[in-house]
Amino acid sequence: MQIGRKIIRLESVDSTNNYIANLLKEGVLEDGTVILADDQYAGRGHRDSEWLANAGENLTFSFFLDNVNLSVQNQFYLTCIVSITLTQLLDKYGISSKIKWPNDIYVDQKKIAGVLIENQLSSTYIKSSIIGVGLNVNQLEFNGLKATSILAQTKNRKSPMDVLYSFIQLFNSNWKSFSEQNLPEIKSQYLNNLFQLNELKRYEDKNGKFEGTITGVLDSGHLVIAKNGVQNQYELKEISFIL
Ligand code: BTN
Repeated sequence: MQIGRKIIRLESVDSTNNYIANLLKEGVLEDGTVILADDQYAGRGHRDSEWLANAGENLTFSFFLDNVNLSVQNQFYLTCIVSITLTQLLDKYGISSKIKWPNDIYVDQKKIAGVLIENQLSSTYIKSSIIGVGLNVNQLEFNGLKATSILAQTKNRKSPMDVLYSFIQLFNSNWKSFSEQNLPEIKSQYLNNLFQLNELKRYEDKNGKFEGTITGVLDSGHLVIAKNGVQNQYELKEISFIL
């Protein structure tokens, strides 16, 4: 399976993830299809947030992976592969980035990319997956948000389409070598690039703000933060980073 054999470029759409989900419902979606939008006017992020990106300046795209063939308990590895691919892509442009758990990509304290993965499950395994990526390419103003772009980091304007082709190439090569046998290797690449790993930082959970240290991520995808010597495990909605 390779992504990007079929690429559909839309001038404007609410959300490329929604667009793919509709094609899937209609039964007309081919494995590996990539949908990108020059203008995505109702982009979705995780935790019900929105994804804002100036039209024409950035990459907002989604792709469809059919027959993922991964057990539900290993679904976190999809997150790992997409995040690792994004850090490799940014490396290519000379940008050193980190993965903020679970799958935001940061350059120093600023977000450069976000990922929204929506899996279609069949009892114990992932049947297929819709993976949406927003990557800031040429945008310079972010209305006070702590965000950055390839242009802001490198002073070089890039064609979003060229950046997409590079992503596709890297993802395909990572996906080809992906198997249940090399999960430990993928996990260690993910951890090597994890934002704030082993650093004492501020977080907030249901009990309030605290200082703690990320010590790892479980195979289930839970984040582990040591707080006063106790290892606490968190799901996405249970923890915020204070940046
Ligand atoms: C996040 O950081 O909260 C995830 C953002 C994901 C944004 C991308 S842009 C393309 C795709 N379509 C969407 O509606 N969302 C994803």
